[in-house]
Amino acid sequence: MTVSIDAARLPLDALADTPPWWRQATVYQIYPRSFADADGDGLGDIRGILSRADYLAELGIDAVWLSPFYPSELADGGYDVADYRDVDPRLGTLADVDDMLAALHARGLKVVIDIVPNHTSDQHAWFREALAAGRGSAARERYIFREGSGPDGAEPPTDWTAAFGGSAWVRVADGQWYLHSFAIEQPDLNWAHPEVRADFVRTLRFWSDRGVDGFRIDVAHMLTKDLSEPLPSAAELAAIPVDGNHPLLDRDDVHEVYAQWREVFDSYDPPRTAVAEAWVASDRVPKYASPESLGQSFNFDLLVADFDAGQFRAIVTHNIDLAARSGSSSTWVLSNHDVFRHATRYGLRDLPAVDEDGAVPRRHGAGWLESGADQARLDRVGGERRARAATLFLLGLPGSAYLYQGEELGLHEVAEIPGDQRQDPTYFRTHQEQYGRDGCRVPLPWTTEGPSFGFGDGGAHLPQPAWFAGHSVAAEEADPDSTLSMYRRALALRHDLQTAEELVWIDTDRADVLHFARPNGWQVVTNFGTEPYPLPEGAGAVLLTSAPVDADAAASTGVVAAEQTVWLAPA
Ligand code: NOJ
Repeated sequence: MTVSIDAARLPLDALADTPPWWRQATVYQIYPRSFADADGDGLGDIRGILSRADYLAELGIDAVWLSPFYPSELADGGYDVADYRDVDPRLGTLADVDDMLAALHARGLKVVIDIVPNHTSDQHAWFREALAAGRGSAARERYIFREGSGPDGAEPPTDWTAAFGGSAWVRVADGQWYLHSFAIEQPDLNWAHPEVRADFVRTLRFWSDRGVDGFRIDVAHMLTKDLSEPLPSAAELAAIPVDGNHPLLDRDDVHEVYAQWREVFDSYDPPRTAVAEAWVASDRVPKYASPESLGQSFNFDLLVADFDAGQFRAIVTHNIDLAARSGSSSTWVLSNHDVFRHATRYGLRDLPAVDEDGAVPRRHGAGWLESGADQARLDRVGGERRARAATLFLLGLPGSAYLYQGEELGLHEVAEIPGDQRQDPTYFRTHQEQYGRDGCRVPLPWTTEGPSFGFGDGGAHLPQPAWFAGHSVAAEEADPDSTLSMYRRALALRHDLQTAEELVWIDTDRADVLHFARPNGWQVVTNFGTEPYPLPEGAGAVLLTSAPVDADAAASTGVVAAEQTVWLAPA
């Protein structure tokens, strides 16, 4: 008797010759302080995540990635880590993390956590020790301390600026200066120091031993630095090519660090995974994504692209080619905790560069406006429609898809945050010039009412707007046309349809329509334009559309409506 096995329906590691789980996984990013609050203190926590384990499993994802949950003074949303091997007491305990890992693993979900190696918090024991020990001490060697410039060293060593604005140097009580590429409270580590290297290996082992499946590596391209004197000025720095020898960025020698980490990852069964957050020129991405280095790297091209067929096609083709060069799989991202949500980006696209009164609207990233009048210009419905279409396009691509909490609800950026309640250092360091990232970090709405829409009993640490009610999980679960319903259907189908990591473009006679097929015949058609596009002759059955209409209705109309994506079954 012959038994036929439908390999596509088996868990990925069930067959020895199937690819590792991460290659085409859907990874859902949780920003723990804003996901769910079990203890009612207004901050999301680990037991909150645990309480929503069924929600995560029912969504149909393969893995979660947790932004930092370590002890932190929250100068940068937790990316200022005071202790890499512990849990912020406001978020829980190590035992809670163990329980969460068990609950997620029991539901077949992998867990990826964030490692922040470029800098510690200024509350880290090493930095406190460095301050106390004074200039010339061994403790200061773990960081980047320098004497100032000018006659009495009262000027910073260089005129470099930090990513969040202002000088990249801070003077300490005894007159020395330390380097911080990000917030003042995030002193950069000295990666030439063997103790720094050894300590991160210990951290990776600590979490791997507890059962964590992989790591997301924060600013993976900035760890190693050449700070030999004389230090270049900002203008000189800007003129140095970033080709592997730049003093601060994307140095080739950073891969020596990752080669050591690779030995750690591969000493586990299954090997632990890693994905680099490396903002580097695309031809340098394969170095991070190679199996000798971190194994996978984020591709942020779609995150900064317009909702535009030409841009999307070029990005996809280019990144599949890059993935082939490293042997890794592609990664695709439309939203994360650092950028305006994609529904909002796509809803602001037609804004004028200059206001009627001649003022340049305040923008950040792909455009953001804050006053009541400015908000009125946001095309909420159109933004969400385009976001749904872009998401279904992305979920059809070969490789792994990274989703950000709340995008499955079609959430827009929250603009209504008063200045005195903002948290992002970007807002303060740029003297309110840039609003920063708080608007995508507002606690999730779970219910249609209640003081924090079901986030927790103690309110929310960033204010939630009234319109969250209609975008809550409860509201969307009850609506078959909601964005949540679309994500659930898409993710379930994606599991069944997933196939080899290839894609073939199918010609369309329109520059604003993209059509591609996967090796098993699964097809994706996205109409970026405003005119309906007739479905191709002999196309397979319509499986799903991004429009809030069911697939049968779409099939009967025979068109891909404006700004919509349709998935077609193998013909
Ligand atoms: C990148 C993280 O995604 C961002 O949130 C953080 O502010 C910087 N790295 C600094 O750690």
